Amino acid sequence: MNDTQMNSLTHPKHGDKTNSPWFEEFLVKLLEDRDRIGLTDMIREVDAMMITVEPGCSVAYVSELALMTPYHYLVTLESATHWTHVLRISMNSPDILVREVRNPELRGIFRSLNEVYPIGAHKPNSRYMGEVLRVTNLHAVVELQKAREMRFFNQEQIRKLELPGNIAIVKPSPYTHNIVGYLERPAEDIRVYALGNSVIRDDVNRGYLEAKETQAQLGLDTLIQPIDHLATRVFSQNREVAILEYLSLSSYYYWGSYDIANQNSSTNVTKSVHYEEESVSPAKVFTAANHPYFINHLIGLPSPTENFVRNYGPRLHHIALAVADGEVSGQANIDYVVDAIKSRGKDFLLDVIRSREEGLKQIFSSASEHSSLIIEYVQRFGDFDGFFAKQNVADLTHAAGLEENLCLLQAESAS
Ligand SMILES: [Fe+2]
Repeated sequence: MNDTQMNSLTHPKHGDKTNSPWFEEFLVKLLEDRDRIGLTDMIREVDAMMITVEPGCSVAYVSELALMTPYHYLVTLESATHWTHVLRISMNSPDILVREVRNPELRGIFRSLNEVYPIGAHKPNSRYMGEVLRVTNLHAVVELQKAREMRFFNQEQIRKLELPGNIAIVKPSPYTHNIVGYLERPAEDIRVYALGNSVIRDDVNRGYLEAKETQAQLGLDTLIQPIDHLATRVFSQNREVAILEYLSLSSYYYWGSYDIANQNSSTNVTKSVHYEEESVSPAKVFTAANHPYFINHLIGLPSPTENFVRNYGPRLHHIALAVADGEVSGQANIDYVVDAIKSRGKDFLLDVIRSREEGLKQIFSSASEHSSLIIEYVQRFGDFDGFFAKQNVADLTHAAGLEENLCLLQAESAS
């Protein structure tokens, strides 16, 4: 024990959702233990996020991200059965690794996670896989996590999966189906992924450069900022365990939960103990229904969150990007950004919601045809420090549910 030991329990709790006594008891015990054994200190920021898409989709998806986000195409890691495109903003924000399976017949654990869900099965290779966290001592972190019952892919499995050989990867969570990886890197070193041959793909680069030119012409390059939060949806009964499991795997703390009673849902926020800026390490948000699906007919409420999880499986629902506070010609930046992106043919699920007076404005894009992921934009005004506003979350949850119904109908009519 020393004077510099982290304390993950000093943050004030926000929100109005009541947790079980079990959650409150083990939240304290888990974080105290994590701090005491040094894991909180050794596990740092999100270094990368991994997304896999259908064969033939990664070029278009990189272009889409180049237009809608601040990410730049860096390099492609070419291996026997995958292409892995590395996207980067800077070393102050996490990378995105976009993986494309080269052979549509290739089967694997990430594909299997999609195949038992009716909409997920239609794009079996499309899913957000999880985050890579930077650690200061990989061996120590892995040994401590194994002693806490965390299960890792072995080296042979990582090689077969064609994931970077210098990352230790925890097997998919039974609650979120996401993985967590650990990459050892001193803060001042550049990120390196030990996988395949590094090439610049002409087709990816061409699409990237065109999208960036459009982004600059529209004036979006200075307005769209790094990732603010990542939102995962889980089954109702897994809300508390998904949060506690993520806190066990990361150095995040529990920020608090909003009860969105009229959408039969709650939104639960965790954040990094090390970095206040979400641009360095995004907040991780978990959304779960308040009641399982078979109770709906008794309580008569919509259930967009549980519907999503039943249709796609537990998984990441959206990636939220911050929009710079300010305005363009009298229009809030977020409204300007959304109008500009709509002019390039991208759809949004609803209008920009809430107002400057309420502190923040948010919107959801339609789900990407390439990754099935939604992009959220969020602009916080002035000194608003609430992170979320309850009514925004309710409106967004509702809007996402409407898209959900459409997708299910389309999937059913196609099958
Ligand atoms: Fe969100």
